[in-house]
Amino acid sequence: EVSKDKNGIDQFIVRNPRGTSVKVSLHGGQVLSWKTERGEELLFTSSKAIFNPPKAVRGGIPVCFPQFGNRGSLEQHGFARNKIWVIDRNPPSLQPNDSNGKSYIDLLLKPSTDDLKIWPHRFEFRLRVSLTVDGHLTMISRIRNVNCKPFSFSFAYHTYFSISDISEVRVEGLETLDFLDNLCQKERFTEQGDALTFESEVDRVYLSSPNTIAVLDHKKKRTFFIRKEGLPDVVVWNPWEKKSKSIVDFGDEEYKQMLCIDGAAIEKAITLKPGEEWTGRLELCVIPST
Ligand code: BG6
Repeated sequence: EVSKDKNGIDQFIVRNPRGTSVKVSLHGGQVLSWKTERGEELLFTSSKAIFNPPKAVRGGIPVCFPQFGNRGSLEQHGFARNKIWVIDRNPPSLQPNDSNGKSYIDLLLKPSTDDLKIWPHRFEFRLRVSLTVDGHLTMISRIRNVNCKPFSFSFAYHTYFSISDISEVRVEGLETLDFLDNLCQKERFTEQGDALTFESEVDRVYLSSPNTIAVLDHKKKRTFFIRKEGLPDVVVWNPWEKKSKSIVDFGDEEYKQMLCIDGAAIEKAITLKPGEEWTGRLELCVIPST
């Protein structure tokens, strides 16, 4: 199912046989929506989101590549989320259990001549977005070095989860880990105690995390599970009250309804030699809780 956004850019809706759906835009290769079979939206998008390339849409799952945040000379979070991707008609094969029937779409990004001026590395970035029969959203990124010299990058699936209320949410799986705090000059700290709860701005990169993280939403009585491979780090971001007011495409009160938890590779850059390929997978599911 394909439609055009107001800028004439193609958006695709992928459905699984049970009616779960995911919407993906060629702008940024960005997932903009993930809905249950009952039509309930699971990802947050701001009511003030601006759909105007090259700026990435505030919500869904923008992909940060080849740089996370401002840790380098490129634009914030790298350029991949700002580019117009193409459909990959003939992707090199993935393992059969990655395709899950026909509920998937393959996108491709290659650098333009202008991109090569700011980041002189030829790559092919293949992104498969798919839904399993159970409605899990999976994203598989394959990045290949098609150049004659090595390059390094960082990466994140910047996932905006829709939540009932930030004060009702708990994140499990990051206890006792070291993290870099973006609010304190990226200084390194160690997480103490139990699951994470939220009462102020948070902007952290948790290091070498387990491969499954849970986001428990007590009020909505549901839990998101984030499973990841090839992505050792986890970003946790909520701008809270003050920062929200400074973000033009974000409502003043919307920080209460969203939480970004990204599967990422940030602290240790990924390096690819000529001809090498890296794969980073994310699988999201939601289950009712009591
Ligand atoms: C987070 C960063 O991942 O993304 C924050 O750690 C940043 O520092 C946030 O503010 C949003 O970034 P952007 O570029 O989409 O506004």
